[in-house]
Amino acid sequence: MCGIIGVIGVDDALPLLLEGLGRLEYRGYDSAGVVLVTGGTLWRTRAAEGTHSVNDLRVLGEDAPPRCSSGVGHTRWATHGEPTTVNAHPHLDCTGRLALVHNGIIENHADLAIGLVATGHVLASETDSEVLVHLVEAEMARGSTLVEGLRLALRRVRGSFAVAAVHADEPELVVAARRVSPLIIGLGDDASFLASDIPALLGSTRRLFALEDDQLAELRPGSVRVTTLDGAEAKATPLSIDWDVTASRQGGYDDFMTKEIHEQPDAVAATLFGRRRADGMLTLDEAAGLSEDDLRAVDRVCIVACGSSYHAALVAKYAIEEWARLPTEVDIASEFRYRRPILDHRTLTIGVSQSGETVDTLQGLREARALGAKVLVVSNVVDSSMAREADGVLYTRAGPEIGVAATKTHLTQIVALELLALVLAQARGTLSASEIGAVTDQMLGLPDHLDKVLLRTKDVAEVAQELAEARDFFYLGRHVGHPVALEGALKLKEISYLRAEGYPAGELKHGPIALIEPGTVVVGVATRNCLWEKLCSNIQEVKSRGATIVLVGNDGDDQTAALADHVLWVPAVEPMLSPVVDAVPLQFLAYWLAQAHGHDVDRPRNLAKTVTVE
Ligand code: F6R
Repeated sequence: MCGIIGVIGVDDALPLLLEGLGRLEYRGYDSAGVVLVTGGTLWRTRAAEGTHSVNDLRVLGEDAPPRCSSGVGHTRWATHGEPTTVNAHPHLDCTGRLALVHNGIIENHADLAIGLVATGHVLASETDSEVLVHLVEAEMARGSTLVEGLRLALRRVRGSFAVAAVHADEPELVVAARRVSPLIIGLGDDASFLASDIPALLGSTRRLFALEDDQLAELRPGSVRVTTLDGAEAKATPLSIDWDVTASRQGGYDDFMTKEIHEQPDAVAATLFGRRRADGMLTLDEAAGLSEDDLRAVDRVCIVACGSSYHAALVAKYAIEEWARLPTEVDIASEFRYRRPILDHRTLTIGVSQSGETVDTLQGLREARALGAKVLVVSNVVDSSMAREADGVLYTRAGPEIGVAATKTHLTQIVALELLALVLAQARGTLSASEIGAVTDQMLGLPDHLDKVLLRTKDVAEVAQELAEARDFFYLGRHVGHPVALEGALKLKEISYLRAEGYPAGELKHGPIALIEPGTVVVGVATRNCLWEKLCSNIQEVKSRGATIVLVGNDGDDQTAALADHVLWVPAVEPMLSPVVDAVPLQFLAYWLAQAHGHDVDRPRNLAKTVTVE
């Protein structure tokens, strides 16, 4: 999704802005631009060449004035208006002396635009964002400073925003503000920085702060002043950074997705590290904010998430209900708060979000807290917006994930949520210590199983080669195999742009089986769980209608192999943990099919890594 970068007080702003934009590319974008403040004027350049736009800016930047000390840059993920150069940020006001970048959505932009046009402003783009720069212009024309102008302008807008603005007359100042959309501030010795997420700033400084909702920051060389949008003095929240800059580089791998898939054994091991005490009891760290009394008081669990995080949550439902015997609901975050959920102080509401910034999940959790529920967040980003607002956080320790398609964060979410399920079972006494110990042993063995699966990528590549002409895919599973099927289908859609539907295998006969014909590929998650026989019957039903059958099967399982045209082999593990292992060959399948179709797996079209609009 859109990304913002800003800098002031450096020798040469342009290379830093371009490097920051490069680091923001992974969020997904379709156009980009920068503006520099130089000798009493602004210099702007923009490009709308999809995911090549930042590269184009590097070329266009050769014409930039040398050694400007401040500027702002933006990667745009189109919402209002097509991804064209005119719609790319930064937007300028009518004088060309004020520039602004914006993430989020200005919901009342149409009304504001009518008023602006009526008073003589000329809006050049189709974006909702451009009204902001003209609103600030109008306030400044009435005598406001840049800071006051932005403050007054933002009081008139409805919606979400992270904004940064510069003015040719105030070269020692970059002003930024946020509501809902995230914004991070960085401090150097003589310089100050801002960005929409942490990786963009890791190369510049490690003194980072999160701007909170309705705060405004005045960045000057080496200093930042924070106030509220009402003008009161305020403080940004210091962030603890546990990622280093090398973790967000590609290393020797062909792409980030491959790197991150291969980091999965370590990511799972790190997420489990230190969770079993010497006395055998499982423990969440203090950040989770759940005492034994809290855990025992829970009478219901409600999980809110989107995309791959939602699929991890679906696995957790099985684990929490089976092990802790707690009723568990899982909601798609964008629907959750609009269905008037019934929650109270005994409902443990869990937000699952690798970024901790997804606005649908963030707003859902805000609703849950307002209703009195205890909110726990499972997040991969330390001090993300959700983490800061929740009662407690359970961190997955996957390290930065740059590839747009979630891989290692998805696996670590499942592991973290299953760990939580065991901790709930321990507190409630629904599993014995020896039962918990046996599952924990299996969990701790997952990294070794994952190592074995990773060695089989070339086997999956051969299967993908055979399927390269196929256009329609159904992914089927039952029990915990169902969320694995949903995740496999999502991965395929995202990076290979092939039509793929994830479905509960038993439900297929209630309609979708009409779509099965020779040439349709059915990918079944056929590792041994309690519904394996029924799943096999469902596979027979599609096989007899001519589908090509690909099955994820346990090593040496001849009965599964007998049903399939192709088998993706995985080691057998405790069935409740099997999604962690079974997901991996489906990541590879999506990866190799995307390669067969010549797509960029790290930056698939139309997608954003962090989705900060509703
Ligand atoms: C899929 C994917 C998305 C995210 C979803 C939620 O590969 O990456 O579906 O899972 O946008 O993102 P987070 O977990 O950051 O809330």
